[in-house]
Order: sequence, then structure tokens, then C-alpha cells
Amino acid sequence: MSQPTISISNFLADDQLNKAQLLALIELAKKIKQTPADFNNALSGKSVVMLFEKPSLRTHVSFDIGINKLGGHALYLGQQNGKLGERERISDYAKNLSCWADIIVARVFKNSAIEALAQHASVPVVNALCDIYHPCQALADFVTLSENFVDLSSVKLAYVGDSNNVSNSLMIMASILGVDFTLVCPEGFGPEALIFNKAKSFAQGSGSTLILTDKVEEIGQQDAIYTDTWISMGDESLSDKNKIKDVLAKFYPYQVNHQMMTDTGASIVMHCQPAHLDEEITTELFDSDMCVAFQAAENRMWAQNAVLVALLAD
Ligand code: NVA
Repeated sequence: MSQPTISISNFLADDQLNKAQLLALIELAKKIKQTPADFNNALSGKSVVMLFEKPSLRTHVSFDIGINKLGGHALYLGQQNGKLGERERISDYAKNLSCWADIIVARVFKNSAIEALAQHASVPVVNALCDIYHPCQALADFVTLSENFVDLSSVKLAYVGDSNNVSNSLMIMASILGVDFTLVCPEGFGPEALIFNKAKSFAQGSGSTLILTDKVEEIGQQDAIYTDTWISMGDESLSDKNKIKDVLAKFYPYQVNHQMMTDTGASIVMHCQPAHLDEEITTELFDSDMCVAFQAAENRMWAQNAVLVALLAD
């Protein structure tokens, strides 16, 4: 079956896609979800290397099973070859993988490693999470939002908690798509100025509102509330236990719970998982019908499959 031309050569960071490309990927993800049999040869004869420097459940399994559904072959590479860049240069790693693989999917500690892989690979590279971005998650989240709200462009989304890779990707994608976005983080835990300013200029272009605040009481009316862990993988600044205690104390007023849902009028709560129950989200809310975390987890696979199909179609 012929695939739409979305014209992407890598999937590295949300800011490298325009609104038309994002909307086309969301539509393609929904199409693959509705009629998976139409796509079961899309990756026939193709191999995807999945390189993981960090732990993963959803990303690993959703890519592996998703690639299988597209008729392709997935190869998992963990840390058996040592830390990326230690045994051999990342550039050589990328060149070697390009000899055999048709796509490289990589979860890495540093964004610079993703960039080096993309620079030296002769095949497309997909960012499966780094310290700055998590674009596969954000794409799945917008697929999920578009399933829960008729008009994506009128959705109001707020992210409450630690500004991290997940919130960066959501904020940038929301701003490109024209979705109003409010980022609520404790003082000192907001986004890097560079990332926020980038999102701000996209929001100006799309005409959406982008608000950053540390005042949780100013969150306003929202349709969806999103949260993620207060301490991300590889957060080296938090290696000592006392610092972790201080962070938790600072974050508790930002916990997403039923009261916040009532106060904001939000009808759904989102979480990329793994959830740290009774920290960033209450168990009661995570287990409630308002939580779409598992719908989004399923959509990870359909969204990623759209990316893989688009990368090989162009
Ligand atoms: N912000 C989290 C996301 C996990 C999927 C982390 O980087 O650990």
C-alpha cells in the first residue's frame, strides 16, 4: 500500500517537525491502529536496531512488537558492548550499524549521542528518549489527545511537575500544533531558557498560548493534566539521598490528584509511566477512569509505527 510522503529523514527532536508533518504522523498512527493489516508488510525485509543505554519497558516492547506487526525485524542492543562511545567512537558505532540496519532507534543519556548517531549513520535515527527530548512519547500523547477530544487545536493541556525530557517534547509539540500549554514547575525546576524560548517562538507562530509558572494555584481551567516522575533516569545532580528528600518535599504541593482535576475542570490525566504512585500522582487518580496512561502506552506503538513507516517511505 502506498504511504503518504511526510518527508522526514530522522526523528530526533520535536522542533525538527512542522505542523503539517506532525498532523500527518498523528493521522497515519490512527490509520495504522484502525487497519493494522494494511501495514503488515510495510517493513518487510527491513531490520531495526534498538540501542538502549537506559532501562525501558514501554519503549522496548512497543518498538519490538510494533516492528513485528509491520513485518520487520527488531534487534535489541543493550549495554553488552559497554557504554556508548567507550569501546569505540559513536561515529564508528553508527557507521557499523548502518552496514546492516535500515533504521536505528536509540535511547541514550545525552542528546549529543543521538546527534552523533544521526550525523554518522547513513540510515534514519529515531530518538527513543534522551536527556532533553522524548518525541516518541509526545507523538503518542497527541494521538491520545486527538482520540479524547474532537478538536485538538482547542485543547488546553497542562504539565505539572518536574520540567524534563517529557515536558520539553510535549511543550514544543503543543506549541507547533497550536495547543494551549501551561507548564507548572516548582521554582528552580523549570525548563532551560533555550528550550522554553524555542517553544515560545513556535507558540507565537501557531497562535497558541504558552504559560510557565511556579504557582500551582494559577494553573487555571484545563482539559488534560499531565505529569511524570520528579526524578528522571540519569539525574546525576540527585545522587545523594538528602537531596532526593529535599526534592520530594518541594514537589509535594505539585502532586496531581483528584482535587487538582476538580479545580481545573480537566477530564483526563496523562502519564508517560513509570508512575511513582503517591508522589507525582495519587494511586487513586492513576487507577481511575480519568487516567489515559494505558491508552497512551498502546498508542506509543502506533505512533512509533507511523514514524517508522514514514521514515522508510521517503
Ligand atoms: N522523564 C522520565 C521519562 C521516563 C519514560 C525519565 O527520563 O526517566
